[in-house]
Amino acid sequence: MIPTLEWTEDGVRLLDQTRLPLEETYILASDYQQVADGIRNMIVRGAPAIGVTAAMGVALGVKQSEATDVAALKPEFEHICRVLAATRPTAVNLFWAIERMSKRFSALAAQPGITVETIRTSLIVEARQMYEEDIAACRAMGAHGASLLPNEGGVLTHCNAGALATCGYGTALGVIRGAVEQGHNIQVYADETRPFLQGARLTAWELMHDGIPTTVICDNMAASLMRRGKIKAVVVGADRIAANGDVANKIGTYGVAILAREHGIPFFVAAPWSTIDLETATGEDIPIEERPASEVTHHAGKQLTPNNVGVENPAFDVTPARYVTAIITEKGVLRAPYSESLQELESVVSGD
Ligand code: MRU
Repeated sequence: MIPTLEWTEDGVRLLDQTRLPLEETYILASDYQQVADGIRNMIVRGAPAIGVTAAMGVALGVKQSEATDVAALKPEFEHICRVLAATRPTAVNLFWAIERMSKRFSALAAQPGITVETIRTSLIVEARQMYEEDIAACRAMGAHGASLLPNEGGVLTHCNAGALATCGYGTALGVIRGAVEQGHNIQVYADETRPFLQGARLTAWELMHDGIPTTVICDNMAASLMRRGKIKAVVVGADRIAANGDVANKIGTYGVAILAREHGIPFFVAAPWSTIDLETATGEDIPIEERPASEVTHHAGKQLTPNNVGVENPAFDVTPARYVTAIITEKGVLRAPYSESLQELESVVSGD
């Protein structure tokens, strides 16, 4: 399996996704600020991967703290969490992971006589546990979602919701992997995903690595392929799913969902429970990250647009729940009305 991120004694090792597919290089984020930079600069990206990387960043920050007692460690811990939380606003997995580390810290800090050393060790264990849980969740999504995909034919995906966006196996690509493992004969169509090209660079790279037949298309080709009957299903990931089932995902996902509806093609969203945000009522309330204009005006250092032209670069959009055929999670497959099915699953999860 492709090691997207990894805890090491010296820091968090990240596969540099900005250099793929031409170079397979790793960087070592050797303090929590470097971990934050790695997330902000998209060395590591994809909602679940961002979350676990941030948890490891928290553990690394505490490991390197010079605090000798819990009272001194607490404000430092809170500062580390704030720095990591300020990296990217849309993927709720980031905040979920930091919150989980904070709860663990508070529970440990409340134990009478606990040492800073024990807290350090326990936070590393917690972050590594989240890494393992993420891979298990992806595999479970693959098992739950596989039968939803066609036995034969084209499946379109947008952005990269694969092993590279998680700790391994992937969410949307996990469902595709699950179907392929069950013998489905699938041809993946990967939207190139302007402007960062996660589809052309990352999805194509990782699927070819696994020998899964993959064709890259420009974002503006999907409608034509659907019309010609080449796409039998769409499966994408998510950065945040609101309580009513609205889905924030990579910019362009909304357009794909509308096209799928127009052509009578099922549109599936695969996401772990850590991507569900029941505190956020609808997609309207999801913060959408604006990325630098240079991602649109330039490619590989080459200017594409005239000087001073106006540019918009929202990194995500929101697909209204009514376009979503099903949400595939590690706990099972949810159907509309999502405000009810998500709430029902929440009761089960909180009783786990
Ligand atoms: O900006 P990115 O590359 O972090 O955006 C990633 C996506 O939009 C993915 O589809 C989403 O995080 C799901 S990843 C399993």
